Amino acid sequence: MTHIENGKEPAKVISFINMKGGVGKTTLTKDLGYFLATKRDYKILFIDLDPQSNLTQSFFRKYGYHQESLLDIDENTVEEDSNENSINNNTNKKTIGSDISIQKLFKPGKISHLKKDDCILALDEKISIIPGTLKAIFSERNSNIENHLFNYINQTKLKNEFDFIFIDCPPTYSNYTISALITSDYYITPSKPDAYSVLGIEMLNEVVCRVKEEHQVYFENKDLKSLGVIFTELAPYSKGYYDQIKEIKKTQTLNIHFFENHFVYNSYIPKRAEYFISDSGSNTKNELIVLADEFERRFSEIG
Ligand SMILES: Nc1ncnc2c1ncn2[C@@H]1O[C@H](COP(=O)(O)OP(=O)(O)OP(=O)(O)O)[C@@H](O)[C@H]1O
Ligand SMILES: [Mg+2]
Repeated sequence: MTHIENGKEPAKVISFINMKGGVGKTTLTKDLGYFLATKRDYKILFIDLDPQSNLTQSFFRKYGYHQESLLDIDENTVEEDSNENSINNNTNKKTIGSDISIQKLFKPGKISHLKKDDCILALDEKISIIPGTLKAIFSERNSNIENHLFNYINQTKLKNEFDFIFIDCPPTYSNYTISALITSDYYITPSKPDAYSVLGIEMLNEVVCRVKEEHQVYFENKDLKSLGVIFTELAPYSKGYYDQIKEIKKTQTLNIHFFENHFVYNSYIPKRAEYFISDSGSNTKNELIVLADEFERRFSEIG
């Protein structure tokens, strides 16, 4: 694949989305993205569209930041000192305060004045994030904000700067979902191999069709293609798991691509928000490598 350089391909914008909650969307976004940035040399922008902001919490812990907002208090890192860019000395680990977040983007009104630094935090040379915030939830009722993310990416020419833009979506259907889909070139559906999650996949398919139909103007110069379903094994290995996957592939009627490789179970993941598979000595790292290979291949496969 073409890496960032002069004359590089524009970034591919990918939503990680499933209307079903707790299927591994955030964890897959974080671990696949982090792997691609640290081991494959891609430059990645993460966008945390979920007001739960779990993705942000993981990256902030990993890189030593805390969010400066009363509504985003992370009990383990944020203490009383909340001056801009203050160093928090009240915990064992010093963390840097940041008020950069997606909140500025989802305010009603014009966003044409917004610059990269208003919403994007560069964590290192390869990894940047538009942090999520609980505050953004309050603007959810405002209509006419769905196009803000799309416009922001265009006006700041972000596609020229990154190889991938990964959007972690919330599990509900909202302005955020629309916002993510109209901005994306592709979407990936993390799913558990069970009947309800499969219904979620079918529902998502309908949502994508509806968004494309109702927001045609955004799809004049780009498509929104499914890269496929990635099964996330949120329960320890079992034979039943693979039987379920076979059954799902057999019974589903939509023309859906299922990734051969899965995002496998790793018992450390639920224990520590700042745990990243690629930095660990875990066996699941090898599984992540083959999943990343398959992810890279998908673009040439689907054209
Ligand atoms: N590969 C994995 N192995 C073990 N546990 C995992 C794995 N992936 C995710 N989990 C755990 O499963 C739970 C749900 O994962 P995650 O938050 O990524 O799902 P989600 O789809 O983003 O949820 P939501 O819909 O609430 O945004 C979390 O506790 C997470 O730590
Ligand atoms: Mg999530």
